[in-house]
Amino acid sequence: MKRDFLTLLDVSPSELAYLVQRAEDMKQQPKPGHCPLLGKSVGLLFEKASTRTRVSFEVGIYELGGQSIFLSPRDVHLSRGEPLSDTARVLSRYLSGLVVRTYSQETIEILAREADIPVINALTDLAHPCQALADLLTMKENVEDLAGTRVTYLGDGNNVANSLIIGCAMMGMHLTVACPEGYDPDPDFLDKGVRLAEESGGSVRMSRDPREASTGADFLYTDVWTSMGQEEESERRRKDFAPFQLNSERLSDAGGRAKILHCLPAHRGEEITDDVIDHPQSVIFDQAENRLHTQKALLEWIIE
Ligand code: CP
Ligand code: NVA
Repeated sequence: MKRDFLTLLDVSPSELAYLVQRAEDMKQQPKPGHCPLLGKSVGLLFEKASTRTRVSFEVGIYELGGQSIFLSPRDVHLSRGEPLSDTARVLSRYLSGLVVRTYSQETIEILAREADIPVINALTDLAHPCQALADLLTMKENVEDLAGTRVTYLGDGNNVANSLIIGCAMMGMHLTVACPEGYDPDPDFLDKGVRLAEESGGSVRMSRDPREASTGADFLYTDVWTSMGQEEESERRRKDFAPFQLNSERLSDAGGRAKILHCLPAHRGEEITDDVIDHPQSVIFDQAENRLHTQKALLEWIIE
């Protein structure tokens, strides 16, 4: 039976812990003796822009012995009306896995249902599970134990926040998500996160007060206020999110010792200030590097 990775809910908490640990091991030993993707090809079907996800997948696939084939909508017949189902069935005859970045979760669900090969979500409007893997590895590198660690996410309850909720909940962490009204995370992810956290000894809660939410945090995390596809809302969003900026005040609310996370790309001066992104406690560029290691662990596990 093939496995897909469409959201973090496709893995159990113990599988998630395994993937993060395996990524940490692979990071220590980047060129292992075996090549789990030797002779295999992995497709990257991307309908949105990407710097980190595309490059880290392509490099990771190469380092595991395989080859990647990048497919933009312009290159394939999807944009000319070939059904998703036919595309998935045909690509399954050539490839060993398909990594997809698209808009609706339904698109990736159809591809996964029709494909005989593992399908990996490289970002949809709903979820960004590959990002959450790297977020967890980055936090693990900076604490004794993920369980009990306090994380505050400030800003938009978007794809990155939805996946962070599930990841933190599964690992027994305490997550506070501070959003302005009208920008909450997906209610289903929030409910599932609360339930998973109850089982793991962690917690997930919402706040409307960025100051209160940041108090005592071990990690402060933010993402852009305007995600890909929402560009026409950006002016309104800039106003609505202004009090939720990750800046030096939030860092001092946290007690001055919090580490800083951002999935990137950042709009410097908008959701995060320059001094915070470049602060000695920022682990943002480690977080970007960790996309490579966590995706290698995922590819090895899901394809091999
Ligand atoms: N964080 C992230 O997914 O970055 P890209 O959009 O550059 O892939
Ligand atoms: N929330 C952002 C993440 C980009 C990596 C977006 O969807 O554009």
